[in-house]
Amino acid sequence: MTRLYLDTSNLNQIKIWSPVISGVTTNPSILKNEGGDLVEICKYMSNRHVSVESGRDFLSEAKELYKWLSPHNPNIAIKVPFLDTEGTPNIHIIRALTDSGISVNCTAMLSLSQIILASKAGAKYVSLFAGRIDDEGGNYKQVIKDCIQYLDSNYFDKGCELIVGSVRTVGNVLDSVNAGAHIVTITPAVLQKMVTHKYSLFTSNQFEDDYVPVKDIQVKTEV
Ligand code: E4P
Repeated sequence: MTRLYLDTSNLNQIKIWSPVISGVTTNPSILKNEGGDLVEICKYMSNRHVSVESGRDFLSEAKELYKWLSPHNPNIAIKVPFLDTEGTPNIHIIRALTDSGISVNCTAMLSLSQIILASKAGAKYVSLFAGRIDDEGGNYKQVIKDCIQYLDSNYFDKGCELIVGSVRTVGNVLDSVNAGAHIVTITPAVLQKMVTHKYSLFTSNQFEDDYVPVKDIQVKTEV
């Protein structure tokens, strides 16, 4: 069954969507745009997943983030982009963090080949940016299916889960679920679109108009 994460650093939104989410993902751009307090998020999500992203000096930043936040949430994963800004894969960093007991969410990936390497380097989560694949005219549904088939059938990489991110539309969410994604991380704006249906609203209003309080129904039944 696909789990849903919320792609945000806004604690109010996390509280609103709390009944349906199994985790929260953030990145430097989300934190820049939305602000938010990582300690409060970790505390609120105490028994659920939180991903926070390291940057620039990835190894030391990752360790620092883990030391700071893990006392507030034992389920924290540190995001490490698959490539650094020079195009070198961060596979040594993923391996070093994994070997020191830190869960890694390898992020900003756009292909099965990257997912294979990140999972072999020890990442516990691999984040595929479906919307960015779609932006380039790529077939993200097929890439998700291929990744799931690979991760679920390779013994040594078992336990590594695919997070589909960069989700822009409700269609992206449904496609990801249908393709078998382990996890889809969704922005509050897209989740809100998943709620809306004018005929559901119409039906709720119909039931409200016809509503009889339980105590009145009980009186009628007793007579
Ligand atoms: C996922 O973990 C990322 O935070 C996010 O989904 C990236 O999405 P974007 O392509 O909209 O930046």
